Amino acid sequence: MGTSRGASTAILCMAALLVVISTISTTSAQELTTTFYDQKCPSLFAIVKQQVQIAVKAEKRMAASLVRLHFHDCFVNGCDGSILLDDAPGIVTEKNIGGNNNSARGFEVIDTIKSILECACPNTVSCADILAITSRDSAVEVGLTESYPVYFGRRDSLNSSDSIVNDFLPSPAFNYAELKNNFHNVSLNETDLIALSGAHTIGRVRCQIITATTIDDTNINAVYRAQLAKECDPALFDPITTLKNLDLKTPDKFDNNYFKNLRRNEGILTSDQTLQSTPGINVDIVKDYAQNKENFYRDYGLSSIKMGNIKVLTGNKGEIRKNCRFVNPVPSIKLPTDPRVASE
Ligand code: HEM
Ligand SMILES: *[C@@H]1O[C@H](CO)[C@@H](O)[C@H](O)[C@H]1NC(C)=O
Ligand SMILES: *[C@@H]1O[C@H](CO)[C@@H](O)[C@H](O)[C@H]1NC(C)=O
Ligand SMILES: *[C@@H]1O[C@H](CO)[C@@H](O)[C@H](O)[C@H]1NC(C)=O
Ligand SMILES: *[C@@H]1O[C@H](CO)[C@@H](O)[C@H](O)[C@H]1NC(C)=O
Repeated sequence: MGTSRGASTAILCMAALLVVISTISTTSAQELTTTFYDQKCPSLFAIVKQQVQIAVKAEKRMAASLVRLHFHDCFVNGCDGSILLDDAPGIVTEKNIGGNNNSARGFEVIDTIKSILECACPNTVSCADILAITSRDSAVEVGLTESYPVYFGRRDSLNSSDSIVNDFLPSPAFNYAELKNNFHNVSLNETDLIALSGAHTIGRVRCQIITATTIDDTNINAVYRAQLAKECDPALFDPITTLKNLDLKTPDKFDNNYFKNLRRNEGILTSDQTLQSTPGINVDIVKDYAQNKENFYRDYGLSSIKMGNIKVLTGNKGEIRKNCRFVNPVPSIKLPTDPRVASE
C-alpha cells in the first residue's frame, strides 16, 4: 500500500511536471494568446469587468483614463507595465514625465484590480496584462459595442523607461508625417494611427495643451478655436486643472463622433485635425470611420491587438509583479515620493 501510494504520487508529480514543461514551451514561443488565463485565472474576466463598471460609474472619465494607460505603457519600451512603477531605489517613475505629467491617471483602479487578483489567483496575472484587458473593458463599458479579444501572456518589466518617455509618446503638436513616423517606430501603420486616435472620442484635455497647439492651428474651425481660447484664457482659468472634452459632441461615449468632428474641422488637437486636413489615404479612412461606425469599431479592435503586442516580455523574461507600483519584492515601507501614494 505504501509503495502503491508512492507510485501514484510519482505519477501525479510527473503529470504536474509535464504540465509545467508544456507551459514553459508554449510561453517561450513569445506569442500572446487569448486563452492564457483560462485555466490559471478564469475569474480574471469577471473581476476586471466588475471593477471597471464600478470605477466608471463613480466617474465617467475613468474609462478614458484607463484606455490611455495601456497606450502609454505600450509605446514606451513595450507593453510591460512600466508606466505603473512608482519611484523607488533604482527606479525613476514614468508618471511625471512628458505626456504623463499631471495627466496619466487611473492608477488606483489598477491597484484595486491587482489586489483582488492577488487573492483570487496569486502571482499569476501580470500588471501589463491587466492594463490590456482594462483598456478593452473600459471602451466597452462606455459604448464600444463590438468587443475584441484580448491577447495575454505579457510579463512585467524590472525597470522603468523614464528617460525615453519623451522619445516615444507622440506630441499633440505633431503633424501628419511626424505621427506616421512615431507609429511606424512601433510597427503601427496609418490605419492603426487613425483607428487608435479614435480613442479621443472619450476623455479630456488640459487647457495648457489647447493653448499650446489648438488656438493657432488654422486647420481647425475658427469659431471653435475662438470659443476654446475664451474658455482656456490663462488669465481666468488654471491651464492644468481646466479641462475640455476631446469629443465636443458626445464626450463620454465611445462612438464615431470623433471622426465626424474632424470632418467639420472640429478636432481639438493639432494631431487630431491633421488626420483630416493632410491630403492622403488618411482622409479616406477618416471618412470611412465617420460614415461606418462598425468599420471604426472593427479596426479599433484590430489595432488595439496590434498595439498590445509591442515589445512584450514573455516566457521567463521580466516577472509577475505582486504590486503594480513596485518591482518584486515590494518594499515594506511605501516611499512617499509619489503624491498619489502618499495621500492613500
Ligand atoms: C496619435 C497620437 C496621440 C496624441 C498626440 C495624443 C495626445 C493626447 C493628449 C495631449 C491628451 C490630453 C492629455 C491631457 O491634457 O492631460 C490625450 C488624451 C487622451 N488620449 Fe491621446 N494621443 C494620441 C493617441 C492616443 C491613442 C493611440 C489612444 C488610445 C488608444 C489615446 C487615448 C487617449 C484618451 C482616452 C485620452 C483622455 C484621457 C483622460 O481623459 O484621462 N490617445 N491624448
Ligand atoms: C511636471 O509638471 C510640473 C507642474 O505641475 C512641473 O513643475 C514639472 O517640472 C513637470 N515635470 C516634468 C518632468 O516635466
Ligand atoms: C531595462 O532593463 C532592460 C533589460 O535589462 C534593458 O535592456 C533596458 O535598457 C533597461 N531600461 C532602462 C530605462 O534602464
Ligand atoms: C523612434 O525611436 C527612437 C528610439 O528607438 C527615438 O529616438 C525616436 O525619437 C523615435 N522617433 C519618433 C518619431 O518617435
Ligand atoms: C495596416 O495594417 C493592417 C494589418 O495589420 C492592414 O490591414 C492595413 O491595410 C494596413 N494599412 C495601411 C494603410 O497600410
